[in-house]
Amino acid sequence: MPSLDPVISPTIANQKAKKVVPGIEPGLLESESRVITITLHNLVVKGTNIFLTGGSGFIGSVVIPTAIARNYIVHALSRTPATDEKIQVDAVVHLATAYEFGKTASYDDVIPVDIAALDAIADGVAGTETSVVTTSGTLVVAADPRGEETDESAAEDPEPLNTRVKVEKYGLSLVETRGVKVMSVRLAPYVYGRGGSGVRRWMELAKMVGSVICVDGGVNRTTTVHVDDAAELYLKAAERGRAGEVYNASRDTKVTAKEIFGAVAEIMGVEVTDMDFETVKDRFGVVLARFLNVENRASGAKARTELGWEIKGQGILKEIREGSYRQVAEELRK
Ligand SMILES: NC(=O)c1ccc[n+]([C@@H]2O[C@H](COP(=O)([O-])OP(=O)(O)OC[C@H]3O[C@@H](n4cnc5c(N)ncnc54)[C@H](OP(=O)(O)O)[C@@H]3O)[C@@H](O)[C@H]2O)c1
Repeated sequence: MPSLDPVISPTIANQKAKKVVPGIEPGLLESESRVITITLHNLVVKGTNIFLTGGSGFIGSVVIPTAIARNYIVHALSRTPATDEKIQVDAVVHLATAYEFGKTASYDDVIPVDIAALDAIADGVAGTETSVVTTSGTLVVAADPRGEETDESAAEDPEPLNTRVKVEKYGLSLVETRGVKVMSVRLAPYVYGRGGSGVRRWMELAKMVGSVICVDGGVNRTTTVHVDDAAELYLKAAERGRAGEVYNASRDTKVTAKEIFGAVAEIMGVEVTDMDFETVKDRFGVVLARFLNVENRASGAKARTELGWEIKGQGILKEIREGSYRQVAEELRK
């Protein structure tokens, strides 16, 4: 790797970055602040170094062992108070966002924070060959009116579920404005596996309300990707991605909401309750209603062709019925 000297400076606020040593879990995280602070200084750590935000999260905690297995030296931001660490990085995987699904009223509220995080990263790596892989979602694109798959160049959704595309665009603009090698991974709305994330949330909800909610028959198809494959894609993008490019993290685009909720209901031993959109909106809010109801078929062909990304994880329905979510169901039933 080239000899780099990036400094990601403490421009955002008074929290500290913590180095995560391979094999050691980050400590308990204490802050509820929306501030993302990135503090790195220049010190040579021999080897191929990768820096992560969101390393303690669902996806980040799979990126870390995947990167370690490929001999990266991993450093990750956490919100645990810690001393400043001095790290030189060859790649940055930026997963964190201040947006919390179901908690943040509007993505617009966190745009300044998410942009400030990108600026802090840019401060550290501008003018170097360090790859910065940022995170967005396939939901930024409108569904194809004929029901076909969409690709990364498809038109934006004029009424997006959230406005994260603004931050994606800002990140990609850093290629021109700051000379940063930025690319964006657009994650499927369902990143599943290892018993976590959205599927687990629906299971927990199923336990609470005694059924699984489906909107308008659940005929809408959605995009899904196994978390292990998503983690691989971040590394492939860091290694082989081109500046300014977007890559969809997508395995399947044919699974319907009804099939996902049906599988969840099956393993939770509850029924599927079908509701019309307006009822779900009134009871649970427009964001959830739209998320459950949205059609999204984003192809992962570009990542497979350009980056040599291979899909290995099993499909979402099999993962729910026979994979990691079976154990979750057993735990929830106790
Ligand atoms: N999981 C999915 O199905 C899915 C689908 C589409 C897109 N995404 C996107 O993928 C990314 C990772 O998702 P995930 O499921 O791994 O999320 P997650 O499990 O909720 O973890 C979020 C991560 O971001 C960190 N974070 C949150 N707010 C922060 C802040 N203000 N400052 C610093 N770090 C902060 C969290 O750190 P703490 O531990 O300190 O809270 C945690 O490491 C997110 O951008 C998410 O929107 C996920």
